[in-house]
Amino acid sequence: MTSVQSSFNGSSDALENTDSGISLAEAVNRRRNFAIISHPDAGKTTLTEKLLLYGGAIQQAGAVKARGEQRKVTSDWMEIEKQRGISITSTVLQFEYQKNIINLLDTPGHQDFSEDTYRTLAAADNAVMLEDAAKGLEPQTRKLFEVCRMRKIPIFTFFNKMDRPGQDPLTLLDEIEAELGLKTWAVNWPIGSGDFFRGVIDRRNQEVFLFKRADRGRQATEICLKLDDPELGNHVEKDLLDKALEELELLDAVGSDLDLEMVHSGDLTPVFFGSAMTNFGVRPFLNTFLEMAQRPIARTSSQGLVDPIKSDFTGFVFKLQANMDPRHRDRVAFIRVCSGRFEKDMSVRHARTGKSIRLSRPQKIFGQDRAVVDDAYPGDVIGLNNPGMFAIGDTLYTGSRVEYEGIPCFSPEIFSWLRNPNPSAFKNFRKGVNELREEGAVQILYDTDQSKRDPILAAVGQLQLEVVQHRLQNEYGVETRLEPMGFQVARWVDGGWASLEKIGRVFNCKTVQDSWMRPVLLFKNDWNLNQLLEDHPEIKLSSVAPVISGVEPINL
Ligand code: G4P
Repeated sequence: MTSVQSSFNGSSDALENTDSGISLAEAVNRRRNFAIISHPDAGKTTLTEKLLLYGGAIQQAGAVKARGEQRKVTSDWMEIEKQRGISITSTVLQFEYQKNIINLLDTPGHQDFSEDTYRTLAAADNAVMLEDAAKGLEPQTRKLFEVCRMRKIPIFTFFNKMDRPGQDPLTLLDEIEAELGLKTWAVNWPIGSGDFFRGVIDRRNQEVFLFKRADRGRQATEICLKLDDPELGNHVEKDLLDKALEELELLDAVGSDLDLEMVHSGDLTPVFFGSAMTNFGVRPFLNTFLEMAQRPIARTSSQGLVDPIKSDFTGFVFKLQANMDPRHRDRVAFIRVCSGRFEKDMSVRHARTGKSIRLSRPQKIFGQDRAVVDDAYPGDVIGLNNPGMFAIGDTLYTGSRVEYEGIPCFSPEIFSWLRNPNPSAFKNFRKGVNELREEGAVQILYDTDQSKRDPILAAVGQLQLEVVQHRLQNEYGVETRLEPMGFQVARWVDGGWASLEKIGRVFNCKTVQDSWMRPVLLFKNDWNLNQLLEDHPEIKLSSVAPVISGVEPINL
């Protein structure tokens, strides 16, 4: 593996390979991979930066922060272009900490690009659910949680901003249990919050980590005392400590037990309280995460579960990104390594086409920087130059043929006709639309009436449409017009056209087809959707498109 210690300056010379000489099993064993799910402003950028500092991956606080700040001006699409590859796309941040290799699958900060996050979660073995302790569960977190639930990803919850007045911690746990149906186990427990935040009690070690307020952004000093240390009284008011201990007693009496199997099946979440900005609780969180998180897992394939320590290399494409580096106008496919050892220059098979490909310039991509890598292991992500060959969900393998489960399409919420006012530019228009669909920048739907040839762009957020339009102009030279359709909800019909025909005419919705010619119903609102379900209880609708493998999508 390649450490990214110095890759912030873009140099690959100083990269060291700390995996050399160890077995595949050892390399897998020391890897942990995760994505952070959160609502904007919960502190994802801040937490990411603090985690990277522990790994020594960035020397200076602010490197990631700068990205967060840039992100906030993305309403102007000229700015989107400038920041492409950083603020609206996901990359991978790899760092080494206490002999572990951690792959943080970074996701876009802007919620309009959450489709990208959904796909990234397909490559993650664990998720960190970051919540603002004052706000509790927020909409974007709920949505991303649902995606984790589909894949049964273990979830680690971090309640952030404890240095500010927050909600009652028991209420925060109740909310997760009641609304997400996820059991909780508090690893640490806060003593007060806001101006009265005094620290956290480590439940297993019966220790108190004291919170000492530091200047904004500076690391608070870490002082740790045993819970029965008389010295504690000099730092924590008795009433605050008593309250925290009473709450803990309650949790001991009625709460769940810590069961690692339940953590790994995504049924129980270990919970942490801290403050990313003051760097309080981040290190203990990282340590416990490393201890409890799932190692790179065996993945379901056409050949059953594939063990990561199987010697044949396998991996799948979970993301495509064009023009990450505007200077090179390149297209990169992100591959999650699932089994075996990946080596530079190795020849692999591309399961969808059966072709053999030599992977000559695999890259580690760290934020905006890249370095060519010599090898990679299960849990790692590599970037491959994509001359139009890879599609999302594609499997690469050596040895006997395997194909991993595809990545589903998630329910879009904004729909717009994409018009091409200049018929002479149709060739480029078609190329752009097809390539951007392939890349997963947007979903493409079509009217069932063949005479209406214009594609329908289906996205999760408005900004996603604007980026597509902007890229069509800049990368394909075609000017386009968006014509909003006024729908907000899409549902795929289980059983396809046959099921739809059975119920006859449907009202208050529009039937369109996706790129695999499957029927999709568009509704103006949930009310119309519910009405259809009431009128036709026999129809089964799904907010996620079922995965189909081996069938090529239709192009414009
Ligand atoms: P995001 O990536 O999830 O959108 O959140 P980000 O890290 O950008 O943080 C959002 C805001 O919350 C930032 O403030 C950040 O400083 C603040 N924040 C993050 N963690 C904590 C914490 O533990 N305690 C407190 N009090 N604040 C926290 P901002 O004013 O929007 O930006 P900035 O001026 O600090 O850069």
